[in-house]
Amino acid sequence: MQFTFVTLFPNLIEGYFKDSILKRAIEKGILKIDYCNPRDYSKNKHFKVDDTAVGGGAGMVMNPQPLFDALDDLKNRDEDVHIVFMTPVAKAFVQNDAKRLAKKSHVAFVSGRYEGIDERVIEKYADEVFSIGDYILTGGELASLVICDATSRNIEGVLGNAESLETESFETPLLEAPSFSKPKIYDSLSVPSEYLKGNHSKIRSLKLALSECKTKYFRPNELKKHKAEQHLS
Ligand code: ADE
Repeated sequence: MQFTFVTLFPNLIEGYFKDSILKRAIEKGILKIDYCNPRDYSKNKHFKVDDTAVGGGAGMVMNPQPLFDALDDLKNRDEDVHIVFMTPVAKAFVQNDAKRLAKKSHVAFVSGRYEGIDERVIEKYADEVFSIGDYILTGGELASLVICDATSRNIEGVLGNAESLETESFETPLLEAPSFSKPKIYDSLSVPSEYLKGNHSKIRSLKLALSECKTKYFRPNELKKHKAEQHLS
């Protein structure tokens, strides 16, 4: 699968792939990462890519011309490219979106800087628009990396152990039970004694109870929904 980052600041993105688990997937040829810098397409003699907002308002807005030309070029090179924009006002990106995007052959993320992107670009080119949460980042680059990372883990061969995907939070109605590593006692704190006794059916029941506790604490509404669905079935 290919990811193209359309950004004025490719350096912000590149570093991530040098040291993450995704590096191995890139080396194996499962993932391909590309960059496209709208500044390279600017027809302004100083390669300007932004201007003040028409109608007033604070800050600089990214001009349509460099982005239109960059995205036309991208689409001419691959008509199947799926173009995603990031903005804090869009619907929130969730695990199901990650699983859906993982089935595409090529996803391009268009990151805005400054006060945003001329809306005509989004209207013309966006296949989807996502927010990664109700807060404002200084640009879309971090948001695009978040979406790329969450999507990549759902591509076959990217993670070593596919089973770990199926049991984790958001793949089941309950949040995943807490995990513990060795040693069994650390700083006078023990892992739950049931985990140590090797009775797998008891461990499973305890994990289910702990999952329910965790869901009740962090996502009480999800637990209520899960219980109501269980009651109905
Ligand atoms: N750009 C700035 N803030 C953002 C957010 N929260 N989600 C997606 N893109 C953004």
